[in-house]
Amino acid sequence: MTRTVTILNGPNLNLLGKREPKIYGPDTLDDVATSCAALGKDLGIRTTLLQSNHEGQLIDWIHAARDTADGIIINPAAFTHTSVAILDALNTFDGPVLEVHISNVHQRESFRHHSYVSARANGVIAGFGVQGYELALRRMATLLA
Ligand code: DQA
Repeated sequence: MTRTVTILNGPNLNLLGKREPKIYGPDTLDDVATSCAALGKDLGIRTTLLQSNHEGQLIDWIHAARDTADGIIINPAAFTHTSVAILDALNTFDGPVLEVHISNVHQRESFRHHSYVSARANGVIAGFGVQGYELALRRMATLLA
């Protein structure tokens, strides 16, 4: 059975590839969408990758995922460290939630060490570059099997 996974991305990740490439690498979010779609085909998972700079939009997409997705992979970007509202939205979702950070947030400024989303996430990946999205998708396949 084909599963559906929504891959959500928070603020500034539209600039992936151009934004601080020493930290986040050269790949763009389109590259991530393409590689996840290809891997998803092998895993029997249909992926939809979305990005917004707006907290409310991300919350609306989480609510929509309640009806349309079996699992959520989310890189909340800076909202990771600030948003109780995104945590509350994720708590309304019944399926698995995996949190991805491209950089190793624990090696960076102390304000990046705390994540509100981790209280809900079934797993967290940080510091694996954009490959973290594919690793999360593989884990999601296991969780949804
Ligand atoms: C990030 C880490 C966050 O601290 C930062 O605000 C981001 C990206 C990451 O993927 O490494 O925008 O979530």
